[in-house]
Amino acid sequence: MSQPTYIQSTNTNQQLRRPLLLTLALIGMSAFVMIFASGCGGNAAAAEIAPIQAPQVAAVPILSPDQIATARELLVSQGCVGCHTIGMFPEAQGLIGPNLTHIATEVEQIILSPEYKASGGAAVNVGQYLYESILVPPLYVAPDCPMGECPNYVMPQNFGDRMTNEQINLIVDLFSTFK
Ligand code: HEC
Repeated sequence: MSQPTYIQSTNTNQQLRRPLLLTLALIGMSAFVMIFASGCGGNAAAAEIAPIQAPQVAAVPILSPDQIATARELLVSQGCVGCHTIGMFPEAQGLIGPNLTHIATEVEQIILSPEYKASGGAAVNVGQYLYESILVPPLYVAPDCPMGECPNYVMPQNFGDRMTNEQINLIVDLFSTFK
């Protein structure tokens, strides 16, 4: 039973080949006619081309009050506020790590600095740098801390285990607004 079916289908393929070639030829001809016609129409055809889309990604994220409240709870529950000062939150008065009140503006400079490039840091924007420095703090050690030179290996290195990616990204988004 299976063999006749195979033979039959082969025949069908051969029969189909001719109309297929004809169809391709017709498509080719109509494309030629369309190109020719649009050439005669001058700029009318060009004006119909869809406008270029504006970038979809906002440079500075906009957070809802709920998102800010959730991020704030994380900063407290994860102990960030014990080591970092964050102007927006009075409970964040830590003096061990860098003051993060204007971290977004500072990071814009840091990622362009020769010191950062030399450290092997790969971030090309504020969000990437922040993500990197929360997940892998020793990758690039921030230079200035409230009590002098920043200590390395003091910031915990396991936030990747203690928080979900979504939670880390929420903190990154919040810090990206700290201009
Ligand atoms: C035990 C203290 C400590 C805790 C807790 C801590 N940090 Fe840090 N943090 C530091 C120190 C010290 C540095 C500077 C050294 C370095 O860059 O690794 C730092 C650096 C950073 C930087 C980079 C700042 C810069 O100027 O480049 C960010 C961002 C940051 N911490 C965010 C956080 C967040 C978010 C949390 C909580 C999830 C947190 N830290 C918890 C001590 C801490």
